Amino acid sequence: MSGYTGITVDREALIANYATVAAQVAPSGVIAVVKANGYGHGAAEAAQAFVDAGAEWLGVADIDEGVALRHAGIDEGVRILAWLHAPDEDFRRAAQYGITPAVSSVSQLSAAADSEVPAVHVCVDTGLSRNGAVESEWPELFETAGRLARGSGRTRVEGLMSHLSNASRADDLDQDAALQRALDGLAANGIVPDMVHLAASAASIAVPETRRDAARVGLALYGLSPFADRTSADLGLRPAMRVTASVLRTVPVRAGDGVSYGYTWRAPADTRLAVIGLGYADGFDRDFGNRVSVRIGDRTFPVVGRVAMNAMHVDIGDAEVHVGDEAVLWGDPANGDPAVEDWAAAVGTINYEVVARVGRSVERRTS
Ligand SMILES: Cc1ncc(COP(=O)(O)O)c(C=O)c1O
Repeated sequence: MSGYTGITVDREALIANYATVAAQVAPSGVIAVVKANGYGHGAAEAAQAFVDAGAEWLGVADIDEGVALRHAGIDEGVRILAWLHAPDEDFRRAAQYGITPAVSSVSQLSAAADSEVPAVHVCVDTGLSRNGAVESEWPELFETAGRLARGSGRTRVEGLMSHLSNASRADDLDQDAALQRALDGLAANGIVPDMVHLAASAASIAVPETRRDAARVGLALYGLSPFADRTSADLGLRPAMRVTASVLRTVPVRAGDGVSYGYTWRAPADTRLAVIGLGYADGFDRDFGNRVSVRIGDRTFPVVGRVAMNAMHVDIGDAEVHVGDEAVLWGDPANGDPAVEDWAAAVGTINYEVVARVGRSVERRTS
């Protein structure tokens, strides 16, 4: 029987992770972040799992992602927050699909109000220098929000948010203090938001002071650790993504033969290679070659030579590996699978990037 090439998402793990995170941050709530195709896991499936686990809020980067979730069947009883908007964003779609925009400027707030969006969250920058309103812009933004609230009342400020830089505990607390200044500024304009949210995975675990009313959690819900020095298991989490690939063919090579483009690897002795059908077009870094291992059966074997566009090579020596066997690239190390963190470290990046980059070309199924 031929092995499966693609991602298997462990729905039970997503549900268990949600329960773990929700219990940890309680009494604060959780906004389950499913942007970037659910960190590569499939946004709709991940969202549904979190909703089934009790999520009342989902977080996405933009309105398009929110609309896609509605089309996938996430009904309007589940709130969706979207925080990154194109310069010409059409907020009528937010109103139409019941998506709550977080607004970062007077123009976004006004556009949302003109589109009769019933509620917005105000997004302020407290140190990340990304999409929130910077402090010098707060007076005008908060005044406008106050005026809108006192006006026809069609658009109210339901929430206040900011996002942490995760630079250090002291920096996180500085950002929290800045958020408090924003809260005070809103109050001076007659606005007391129902929901203040700041922390994401890292701070929600390590800096409990920043949990506020809700934590916007992504990575931890997928069972991965945001910390270099703590594993998923250390945090009571189960990695939900397992990537496998079927052996397409085996190739004998002789000692000294170069393998794949540029011959970055030469066989030190006569050996056999297994070719598996995932490559950089699928989001697997070209430089993974010579730096990571896959598991086939109960053994691990190194990936050798440059990863190609659609394939990579595995040095299987004289092991009993055959066409159709399944190689595990990464999964849950608690089950003996390689860890995605090893793949990330191999190319100098973080687990976030490796899972999020697995392309939409790769089949996904839920177990
Ligand atoms: C604004 C915002 N909130 C929350 C998150 C979730 O972060 P994490 O995956 O670290 O929990 C992200 C992700 O980058 C984000 O951009």
